[in-house]
Amino acid sequence: KKIYLEGASGTVSPIPVDARLLEIKAQKAMSPQAAAYIAGGAGHGDTMLENRRAFERWRILPRMLRDVSTRDVSITLFGKQYPYPLLLAPIGVLEMVHREADLAVAKAAAAIGIPYIFSNQASVSMEECAAVMGEQPRWFQLYWSKSDELVASFVQRAEQSGCEAIVVTLDTTLLGWRTQDLELAYLPFLRGLGIAQYTSDPVFRRLLNEPDPTPAPTPKFTYDALRTLWSAVRQYPGSFLENAKSGYPRKAVKKFIDIYTRPSLTWENLAYLRQRTRLPILLKGILHPDDALRALDHGIDGLVISNHGGRQVDGAVGTLDMLPRISEVIQGRIPLLLDSGVRGGADIFKALALGASAVCLGRPYVYGLTLGGSEGIQQVLANYLADFDLTMALAGCRSINEIGPESVLKT
Ligand code: FNR
Repeated sequence: KKIYLEGASGTVSPIPVDARLLEIKAQKAMSPQAAAYIAGGAGHGDTMLENRRAFERWRILPRMLRDVSTRDVSITLFGKQYPYPLLLAPIGVLEMVHREADLAVAKAAAAIGIPYIFSNQASVSMEECAAVMGEQPRWFQLYWSKSDELVASFVQRAEQSGCEAIVVTLDTTLLGWRTQDLELAYLPFLRGLGIAQYTSDPVFRRLLNEPDPTPAPTPKFTYDALRTLWSAVRQYPGSFLENAKSGYPRKAVKKFIDIYTRPSLTWENLAYLRQRTRLPILLKGILHPDDALRALDHGIDGLVISNHGGRQVDGAVGTLDMLPRISEVIQGRIPLLLDSGVRGGADIFKALALGASAVCLGRPYVYGLTLGGSEGIQQVLANYLADFDLTMALAGCRSINEIGPESVLKT
């Protein structure tokens, strides 16, 4: 109603309502590097497409004459009530699109009451974000570092910052083959972006000042070394100049790159985390039903079915296609969340119908941030929530409990 009334009075919002227009307009407003990093996917972008195709394959089957004049879209997760079945996915390096970055997201999430999952690769520390959120809900997303001590420190800080759950992202033990970033030879972390959770961490700072236990052998100045250096300078002259100008803490960047993920991570590591926190632990990036069952065996409290928005494995399955299969083996024992490709109220509805307790929104809120800061995000979120509420009502459901497998059909 608000959108129509504003239109009637001659004001049309700078934030497009349509998800595709929003994406196009925001990408035009970004630097080419930011557009590539944020909108891009792995390889040919096939997984991103497949996420959308999976949503398209499932159709809503509306029911009529069911008095939907009053509705309730709240959900309960881990014993706590949340007003909507929507969370904000953790997204790193937001300073690429807006100077307020994570702070703007934290304010928008708090204004609406949607939980914000703080990224481990945020541009603003979790303490600063928590400080602008009051009592509004937030969670913390962890990339398992090579240093267990750093993992413990992040979790302790998350607890102290009032985070209500820990989301361990499993699909990014290595960075995917991101062709658009590779074309531009641009990786934000190498410029010192997105490392605020690290540089604000006492353990990380201590590690920074410790002498390297295996110091690199003194390099011999050879013709080969000179040739390698010269080809690097010739290939990426921009980055060398920019790095020299920005003066970011090189030592911190190097350390971050060395330890921010642990490719050797296995199920056995999870006990370390379990022993250190009483907060619910969720695993993000689960796609296989057997992994979902294994998570149950390891005392995990919830799953985020995700392929990282198609940024990691090109050619991977669409998340919505895996949801009913995972839901079938989990049988409601722990909540399932889903992300990757959610682009409207109908998508939220379909995910809930197939067994999700809630969905996480990714890129669309970054587009709102790009075009309108915190207000822009709020508007995007308000649109998603209104769209979902209408879809639910028009499908003949009064509350989320009434949305079930019978509400959708695979075509
Ligand atoms: C991400 N994602 C992500 N996930 C995570 O666990 N930690 C992170 O720091 C990031 N960073 C990040 C940056 C950017 C630019 C994007 C687009 C994504 C993945 C994110 O949490 C989520 O899984 C996807 O964004 C969901 O897909 P859609 O909605 O963007 O298609």
